[in-house]
Amino acid sequence: MYVSNNPGSEMGQDFRRFRHVYFWCYLCMIYCFCFLGFSTDRISSGHPVKDGDVIVSAGKKFALGFFRSGNPDLRYVGIWFYGIPEQTIVWVANRDKPIHGLGGTLTVGNHGNLAILDANGDSIWSTNVPAASRNSTAILEDSGNLILWTNHRKLSWQSFDNPTDTFLPDMQFYFNVSAGENRFFTSWRSANDPSLGNYSMGIDPRGSPQILIWEGRNRHWRSGYWNGLIFTGIPSMTAIYLYGFKLINEGNGRLHLTYTPSNSSDLIKFQLLWNGTEEQRTWDTGLKEWSLIQLQPVNQCELYNRCGPFGVCDVMNSPICTCLKGYVPKDNDQWNIGNWSGGCIRRTQLQCETKGGRGVGESGEKDGFLEVEDLKLPDFVDYVGSENVQECRNKCLHNCSCIAFSFASGISCMIWSKDLVDIQQFQYGANTVFLRLAHSELGGTRKVTKLLIVATVMVGVLFLGLSIWLLWRRKDKLQEVFKSSKQRERFPETHPIQSGELSRDFSGQDDLSVEGQECSGKELTYFTFSSVAAATNNFSDINKLGQGGFGHVYKGKLPGGQDIAVKRLSRKSGQGLEEFKNEVMLIARLQHRNLVRLLGCCIEGEEKILLYEYMPNKSLDSFLFDPVKQNQLDWRTRFLIIEGIARGLLYLHRDSRLRIIHRDLKASNILLDGEMNPKISDFGMARIFGGNQNEANTNRVVGTYGYMAPEYAMEGLFSVKSDVYSFGILLLEIVSGRRNTSFRSAEHSNIIGYAWDLWDRGRAIDLLDPSIADTCSPNEVFRCIHIGMLCVQDSASHRPTMSAVVLMLESENANLPMPKQPTFTSLRRSLDVDDMWNEIHDVVTSNNVTLSAILGR
Ligand SMILES: *[C@@H]1O[C@H](CO)[C@@H](O)[C@H](O)[C@H]1NC(C)=O
Ligand SMILES: *[C@@H]1O[C@H](CO)[C@@H](O)[C@H](O)[C@H]1NC(C)=O
Ligand SMILES: *[C@@H]1O[C@H](CO)[C@@H](O)[C@H](O)[C@H]1NC(C)=O
Ligand SMILES: *[C@@H]1O[C@H](CO)[C@@H](O)[C@H](O)[C@H]1NC(C)=O
Ligand SMILES: *[C@@H]1O[C@H](CO)[C@@H](O)[C@H](O)[C@H]1NC(C)=O
Repeated sequence: MYVSNNPGSEMGQDFRRFRHVYFWCYLCMIYCFCFLGFSTDRISSGHPVKDGDVIVSAGKKFALGFFRSGNPDLRYVGIWFYGIPEQTIVWVANRDKPIHGLGGTLTVGNHGNLAILDANGDSIWSTNVPAASRNSTAILEDSGNLILWTNHRKLSWQSFDNPTDTFLPDMQFYFNVSAGENRFFTSWRSANDPSLGNYSMGIDPRGSPQILIWEGRNRHWRSGYWNGLIFTGIPSMTAIYLYGFKLINEGNGRLHLTYTPSNSSDLIKFQLLWNGTEEQRTWDTGLKEWSLIQLQPVNQCELYNRCGPFGVCDVMNSPICTCLKGYVPKDNDQWNIGNWSGGCIRRTQLQCETKGGRGVGESGEKDGFLEVEDLKLPDFVDYVGSENVQECRNKCLHNCSCIAFSFASGISCMIWSKDLVDIQQFQYGANTVFLRLAHSELGGTRKVTKLLIVATVMVGVLFLGLSIWLLWRRKDKLQEVFKSSKQRERFPETHPIQSGELSRDFSGQDDLSVEGQECSGKELTYFTFSSVAAATNNFSDINKLGQGGFGHVYKGKLPGGQDIAVKRLSRKSGQGLEEFKNEVMLIARLQHRNLVRLLGCCIEGEEKILLYEYMPNKSLDSFLFDPVKQNQLDWRTRFLIIEGIARGLLYLHRDSRLRIIHRDLKASNILLDGEMNPKISDFGMARIFGGNQNEANTNRVVGTYGYMAPEYAMEGLFSVKSDVYSFGILLLEIVSGRRNTSFRSAEHSNIIGYAWDLWDRGRAIDLLDPSIADTCSPNEVFRCIHIGMLCVQDSASHRPTMSAVVLMLESENANLPMPKQPTFTSLRRSLDVDDMWNEIHDVVTSNNVTLSAILGR
């Protein structure tokens, strides 16, 4: 069947043709209009901007003109992104004084100020600079900044100093350390009303700078303290450092915050919305929309002080609020109906508070500290200082008004003496707070509960005795019951581990000693918590070997006599139980003489524990940086250690089935066995903690600042080459016998700067630790330093792979490429955590130090 050509469709075609022509004419008109009339990016008294005109920045990034929003009768002067279909206003001049109707003009007025005149020629808005010159010019820059220049090319005013609600790249957000709050941005009143809204955003520089959003005079949201790299209260900010923030100290207590996209052609904006939300978006040229990067506050717990003083907010909990340990709700009834604003109060008086601090506490014992992990540090810190952990603790202990302290990386010692407010529990990666509590609160058992427990235990023992006696009479049955229940308990779900030979379940002491011999097999062994506790003296402090980023490490002894190292992982890893088991099992199968052997693990309830072979000589740093012990490592030993580490790393990178990137290679992660053979420890921890090794970007930067490759520290990009960088630092440390950070001086920011300096002057050999100078072979030393310099180059692509490194180490006559001068670390000193601590302190005490570091989003 045919549909006849009806005349209507011809008419339609004509119309379309007509529209086509019309469209082209329209374009031409705009074209002519733009290029003949207002092709400029500037405003002067001779070239005003009338309503309907638009000026465009030289690079066609931003446009300025009149616009309307909401009410069609009200006209505003604003700046928006040029060339984006959706008009996105980033600045408004006359936000509180719109022009009625279309007669407005923006011009340079009589006194050299920019002014908006209404249809009657009355000025309704002006830049109001006192000493502007008569014929000044305003230029719209490609950054989106409108700058008013005097005719002597002096900057007299700029829109970046008077922002509305949008923080653009390269905008400098000034504040003064000695002043209190500095408000900078103010939201619109509603989505299409640019007049002043209820929310403002700015910085509170006290303690260490924080970004704040206020609703009226009340705090609405808080970023947490700046630690030189990130704002500590935004866990997702430990992430991808694509849009690097910098905090620049200009001296005299004046600082500014700014950020620069890594690709200057990206369009990015931070905006404080009318409803108090701060949003970061980037223009997606493919989708043609502003795609969201992050927004704050993102959940209930982000709202300021959601749970009141001494309350902790955790979105994973229900209800979200709990009291800090040792605290109870102030008003129980209100608390229970979900009105948490009253917060919590201390349950047991501190010993120091009784009888003027000299008296005897409830149990006559001194107050102590409870360690609470992964918190958003409370607001209103009272004291920030450069004390070390122990000094910080003492400082708090000896001042009764101190109720908590923390030792945050990049900030150092922080002490609180007023109510602890706005505390949030994160899943991982935040800071540890040491909470001062009465001694009786620390054991977790109070007198009454103790009594209760004793009673319960006695009843239990009686009952158990009775049952055993009954069961003993039916012994065979008992054995059966025991066997099957054991299996069920340990792995209730069906899982490959359960059925395979991988799962060996040892619950008794006797089994453990058997286990000691068996662990030479390839597979992973499971231990019970009680057996691990028995092996480590119940995780006693005497057995503690150290503390890493992932938890505490204890020395233990298996019943068979074998020494082990026990790593008790901190409470929260980013993984579920199954993934955890799988990862641990994979990692247990990695075997190399330069890797610490994983012997087994224990998973019970919240507890996740890894058992390793014990290394009697502890870690490399305990020799290398110890003035007494360092000459025990003569050149030969050091060279073998370097080689061993390189081989172990090569195995992780290339030869193992897993291809593991270590991500936290440093001297304290290299352990030494009885013969001083190096063994890499903590490999695979990133996997265990939920990092995906195949991603190019990580959500969480693990690692130690002094050892982190620039692309990893800045952009969260990691690869085998970021390990190569850390290896390079480690190598230079081994050669010189000095810590990376100990090289800090006026000329050098760290070991790289120092080594390059010597290298460049042909005196590389001077880097060698003088205490072993007589044992060395200069050629080998020189080759090592050369390799080190190759490994620490700025660009990951210039660094050699580990297999190349191993080759270079082993071939005496290799022709090594020349290294390029590393500039990154020497320019950005604050990437060293030690530097950061001092510099942050400097910022706070307003020294003349430039602090420049990078922050995620
Ligand atoms: C304005 O500019 C012109 C030339 O650019 C200059 O000759 C004149 O002196 C300036 N007038 C004032 C008041 O600065
Ligand atoms: C702003 O505050 C006023 C007065 O407190 C209130 O009436 C209004 O609803 C608030 N507006 C917004 C958007 O929160
Ligand atoms: C920057 O972004 C543009 C467009 O998205 C892209 O073409 C260009 O390659 C990027 N430049 C760099 C250095 O990544
Ligand atoms: C919440 O509790 C506080 C006291 O803890 C009380 O002052 C306040 O009125 C309560 N608010 C509501 C809405 O009940
Ligand atoms: C104790 O701490 C408070 C608050 O930080 C401080 O004002 C006071 O000077 C301190 N007292 C001593 C003896 O250090």
